[in-house]
Amino acid sequence: MRWGESGADAEEQMDESGQTGQPGAAAARAIAVVNQKGGVGKTTTAVNLAASLAASERATLLVDLDPQANATSAFGILEPAFQLYDVLCGESALRRATIPTELTHLHVLPAGPDLAGAEIELVTVDDREYQLRLALADALPLYDFIVIDCPPSLGMLTLNALSAANAVLVPLQSEYYALEGLARLLDTIERVRGAWNPSLEMEGIVLTMVDRRANLSRQVEDEVRGHFGTGGAGVFRTSIPRNIRLSEAPSHGKPILLYDIRSRGAVAYLALAEELLAKHPRPQRKPPFLPIPADTEMRQPEPTGDS
Ligand SMILES: Nc1ncnc2c1ncn2[C@@H]1O[C@H](COP(=O)(O)OP(=O)(O)O)[C@@H](O)[C@H]1O
Ligand SMILES: [Mg+2]
Repeated sequence: MRWGESGADAEEQMDESGQTGQPGAAAARAIAVVNQKGGVGKTTTAVNLAASLAASERATLLVDLDPQANATSAFGILEPAFQLYDVLCGESALRRATIPTELTHLHVLPAGPDLAGAEIELVTVDDREYQLRLALADALPLYDFIVIDCPPSLGMLTLNALSAANAVLVPLQSEYYALEGLARLLDTIERVRGAWNPSLEMEGIVLTMVDRRANLSRQVEDEVRGHFGTGGAGVFRTSIPRNIRLSEAPSHGKPILLYDIRSRGAVAYLALAEELLAKHPRPQRKPPFLPIPADTEMRQPEPTGDS
């Protein structure tokens, strides 16, 4: 196994004007979708925000950093020939592991169970917090947005995402314990700023699974907006409703806008992407051409029938 070179190199490649490669084209904005709680809507948000940015014709790379590979299977990618782990440890070029999707502007860098090993192996690697940043350096000049779906912990993989990202987007489930754990997450972000990524920004908090008819959901929304403010680096104006179609789409191997474009979930994620684009305008451009790797198994999983 050959892990990446020194993190200092990666920093050089990424920082400054953001102009790597193509002259004049801004480097991709890398957004880490982070919350150490499971089941709050990270993967749903990463998948559907990435798809919605792609639908607006912004070249987008979705990076699946969770060993559970839910973002990968959400696109019907079952057994990728190469996965993020192979890129991280230098066994594959980023381009070889990246898979195109039904959306012309969206590519996926898939995860697999090997990634669970990285959490442990990284501990002994030099510049261990910079390995993802190094791995993604090649993608910066090619994409407008890189959306990173993080695992439900604040371990090595999430630290790597925070060190590689320009900004953090935090999905918050609007339920009673929503704010629990948020202080620790904000502490971690502060620590990453101090140690590895001084320019890391807060992209904002997205309220997920909002049920406006429920008093509790409304109270939580009011409290979170009261505390962090709306817009800017605070809470996105757009919140994501609880919508059964959002939970059905992954079993069909599709993002919501290809599964049911008229659903409230699809409308919400398209609005979230618009809100993000208003903050960080990017001209429309095509992503790099990618053939589907012949040895990658792609199929639509059978609908589960329980939805
Ligand atoms: N807005 C929503 N409405 C309904 N179900 C949702 C919504 N967002 C997420 N879910 C469902 O909730 C579960 C957890 O969401 P997920 O995105 O996988 O969370 P995480 O990645 O944070 O663990 C999944 O079954 C998902 O389909
Ligand atoms: Mg997830």
